[in-house]
Amino acid sequence: MNPTITPIRLTQAEDLLRQWIGLDPSTLGHAAISRAVLTRMTKLGVDNAEKYLDDATEDATERNNLIEEIVVPESWFFRDPQVYAFLKTFACERAAIPGRTPVRILSAPCAAGQEPYSIAMCLLDAGLSPSDMAIDAIEISHVCLGKAGAAEYSANAFRTADLSFRDRWFTRHDGAFALQGAVRRCVRFNWANVLDEALVTEAFASGRAPYDIIFCRNLLIYLTPAARSRVEQAINTMLQPDGVVVVGAAESPILKGDWVPASDTTVFVLRHGGRDKTAQSAQKTRASIRPGFINEQSADARSGHLPSVRTPTTTTAEAQVAALSPKVEPGATAASDADREAGNSQDKSLSPITEVIRQANALANARQFAAALTMCETFQEKHPPSSELFLLMGMIHLTTGEVAKAQANFHKTLYLDPQNEEALLSLSILSAHGGDTAWADHYRQAAARVFARKGAQ
Ligand SMILES: C[S@@+](CC[C@H](N)C(=O)[O-])C[C@H]1O[C@@H](n2cnc3c(N)ncnc32)[C@H](O)[C@@H]1O
Repeated sequence: MNPTITPIRLTQAEDLLRQWIGLDPSTLGHAAISRAVLTRMTKLGVDNAEKYLDDATEDATERNNLIEEIVVPESWFFRDPQVYAFLKTFACERAAIPGRTPVRILSAPCAAGQEPYSIAMCLLDAGLSPSDMAIDAIEISHVCLGKAGAAEYSANAFRTADLSFRDRWFTRHDGAFALQGAVRRCVRFNWANVLDEALVTEAFASGRAPYDIIFCRNLLIYLTPAARSRVEQAINTMLQPDGVVVVGAAESPILKGDWVPASDTTVFVLRHGGRDKTAQSAQKTRASIRPGFINEQSADARSGHLPSVRTPTTTTAEAQVAALSPKVEPGATAASDADREAGNSQDKSLSPITEVIRQANALANARQFAAALTMCETFQEKHPPSSELFLLMGMIHLTTGEVAKAQANFHKTLYLDPQNEEALLSLSILSAHGGDTAWADHYRQAAARVFARKGAQ
């Protein structure tokens, strides 16, 4: 049997997925959705797509099976480490306030548990006790929840440079890493669809909500605008007024409400914006090139002209530069340290391009943007073009408000490396800021496809 699917049935399948899980089909592509339906039909021995889709609509089990084929459960421990640095401080400060424990945290969605378990390890390492935290984790994939319960992971779940947490909290056996019970007991897993009203009502009915922190990372990019807005509404309802929401790298512009960066060190953490004047001006300074604030920008910004960022405070885009790899050590933030980093402490074991990126990064982190750019340009004159170098230069131009130059460098990055998700995401953010929603969507969807492909590997 060799089942096939006609365009009309493919559209029907995409409509169902849009309705069930809020999926924007273009983020994964028609081919991926067609493949998923055909895989299910082959497994069931059904060759009539219309009949298969009718059955999947009627039968919750088959609906779940199709969803399992579609979802992208890509995750790893301590993904975006700067988020966990923020979490540690925020949770410890909150736990120190009388009456504010346990610190209530939601991970939605949690994939196979890597995110909520990282939260638990982070807080235990920070000295909080299990009773100081209440961590909930929800996910639509039963397969993922099964893996979260088993809590045994392959090397693929460990991708950060610092793996010391693995030695502290995991036991190695049969080539896998088993998480210790002390961490596992800190997380409560539940099946849920983030689009269901029941998620919110049950969170309140059980006394688990409102949450101090809601992690909602790397889901919104896959959703339709309508689904995103439902998720944002759910977050709004479930979050404490002084709580924070943590989103993925490309996702802050997706949120439409009154959100402002909660930290100068990470672009991923947002809190409710104050409506008072002081809060608004602080917000403008910190977020002057953050597309999520386009509604509060001047007419110039709306027409695509971004203000230059030359304030002495750290901006969210600077945090993006800081987030670039390879990272510099904390000591490199002072100018003199940056000079030392950039000029005198060459690491002979690194390739020339890696070394120049390390040094230019150190200069950028020390706010020596001109010197960082000169270093990149000088290197470029004598070496073949490098996508990594263009990316770094794009990020630096983004930080200094040179949007056209930033865009040009991101385009060059993509010319050399069409799968470069950071360039795709940055172009998506810049297009959104310029008011070009069609291109913003195009780049965002392309980035989502890259993430999805990587997740499938
Ligand atoms: C890319 S993972 C993100 C996991 C984790 N938050 C992270 O950033 O590493 C996306 C997850 O969203 C889940 N998902 C997709 N649609 C969902 C929905 N409507 N409700 C709940 N979970 C959903 C998928 O099963 C998948 O595990």
